[in-house]
Amino acid sequence: MEIIINKDAPSGSHAAARVVAKLIREKPDAVLGLATGSTPLILYQELIRMHRDEGLDFSAVTTFNLDEYVKVPPDNEQSYSYFMWENLFSQININPENVHIPNGMATDIPASCAAYEQAIVQAGGIDLQVLGIGSDGHVGFNEPTSSFASRTRIKTLTRQTVKDNARFFGGDESQVPHHCITMGIGTIMDARMNLVLAFGANKSRAVAATIEGPVAAVIPASILQHHPCTRIFVDEPAAAHLKLADYYRWVYDNKPAWQRV
Ligand code: F6R
Repeated sequence: MEIIINKDAPSGSHAAARVVAKLIREKPDAVLGLATGSTPLILYQELIRMHRDEGLDFSAVTTFNLDEYVKVPPDNEQSYSYFMWENLFSQININPENVHIPNGMATDIPASCAAYEQAIVQAGGIDLQVLGIGSDGHVGFNEPTSSFASRTRIKTLTRQTVKDNARFFGGDESQVPHHCITMGIGTIMDARMNLVLAFGANKSRAVAATIEGPVAAVIPASILQHHPCTRIFVDEPAAAHLKLADYYRWVYDNKPAWQRV
């Protein structure tokens, strides 16, 4: 794991955007795994800026989103499909045919999940997966005790996640769907690179457990300790409980320029 402590969320998000942009310039038909939620918003704004000002070309890029609520149609503002078109896809030159988001409206959910896994394989696998972390340590919607071998499937959100996500539903917890379809931890571990973003004090415990705790299914993100190429961008508040924070800073500050992002 490479831990990069940034002074704030914009600097961390811009550094992560440079990693994404570098991949797309080197491999124009890159396959990206994408997340929703508050965390990647600045990263997406920066990618939109790079597209507009620097000609970053998404025309051959393929995307697979991590998750989607069950029984929330794509034209509903709360759906993750709506979120992605609103916050990224409508503002870059992505080919809509290359966009993949789990189908929360599928009548046969297991078959739809299996087809999603198959589509990832057919696309050549995910080159770079963007991840946020839940305050309970989830990645995607792989909640605590999710199997490390899990693939795309239906999951039930924890009460904590329902509570955390109520802010997107006018603060009304009763409006938050309890079920979602999410890539599994096994799916995420197959990505060639994972970029994890975590900002704000409410992520500091989950971040510390992910990076410095034992690898355990109760903190799903901790499995990333076993991933060969994971970069974690945190801001100072999210780094507050990292025991080795000074070491991570020292390592990053002493990297040769070509190794930095
Ligand atoms: C979203 C997702 C979730 C979020 C996590 C953090 O697609 O997969 O794991 O990344 O819940 O959410 P925010 O960024 O809203 O704090």
